[in-house]
Amino acid sequence: MDEQTARREIVNIGRLLYERSYVVSSDGNVSVRLDDGRIVATPTMMCKGRMTEDSLAVTDAAGNPLGDRRPSSELAMHLLIYQERPDVRAVCHAHPPHGTAFAVAGLAIDQPILSEVILTLGCVPLAAYGTPSTDELTEAMRPLVKHHNALLMANHGAVAYGSDLWQAFDRLETLEHTARIAILARILGGSKNLPADAIEKLINVREAAGYLDDSARCQACGYLHETQLSCPTGDRPAASASSNGSGKISLTREELVELLAQAMTQGRPGNVW
Ligand code: 13P
Repeated sequence: MDEQTARREIVNIGRLLYERSYVVSSDGNVSVRLDDGRIVATPTMMCKGRMTEDSLAVTDAAGNPLGDRRPSSELAMHLLIYQERPDVRAVCHAHPPHGTAFAVAGLAIDQPILSEVILTLGCVPLAAYGTPSTDELTEAMRPLVKHHNALLMANHGAVAYGSDLWQAFDRLETLEHTARIAILARILGGSKNLPADAIEKLINVREAAGYLDDSARCQACGYLHETQLSCPTGDRPAASASSNGSGKISLTREELVELLAQAMTQGRPGNVW
């Protein structure tokens, strides 16, 4: 993509993010990787709904500014994603309220409740909290980037990425829509997970259609426990709680949160939100 087209698309996406309340004030940041490796990024501390094409920053592939505009303070997160994912050409970070509510509650969006979401997005894991704009944040995200197309960032927000800016935005929108539906279903008494055989069929369809490849079959997003790639978000409690034979079990913090959530929805299997 050429620089002028990238500038135009970033301004359009910034306006959409703002109008849909995925960001307020100067929240969020967006970038595009050009064919020559340079990055066009939103400038730091500017409202994404009020940008113009000439307000954007350009950097080299390592993030060094090539003009007088200062890029987003979160550019390192974008560079990490470009580094880990050669297929990715655009990144969208925002604070969409429902998705961010999951991130604030310490929950991943990883329950198999919507067939379309399994087909097109897969699960969205929760990266541990890291101070924005520091290595803490990027290191927490690093192991997840390869296997997922969108991540939640604990107590912070969400990021989605794709082969172009519209795909990155669409993934962010799907993340937010899924989180909203999950919260509404919980108000109605809890969501019911799809059964394992239905999930397996959906995963086969998405791989045959090329929506997602088998790198997305990690423990958390494959929904199928036979996939053994390690994922810092952990597995679901029933599959991963370990016992040392003395009757004591150990759980991660996230597993404990999920168990408590299940208890609050009357312990019905599948109703974890
Ligand atoms: P920037 O304005 O520096 O891009 O930061 C916004 C933000 O949302 C940080 O998480």
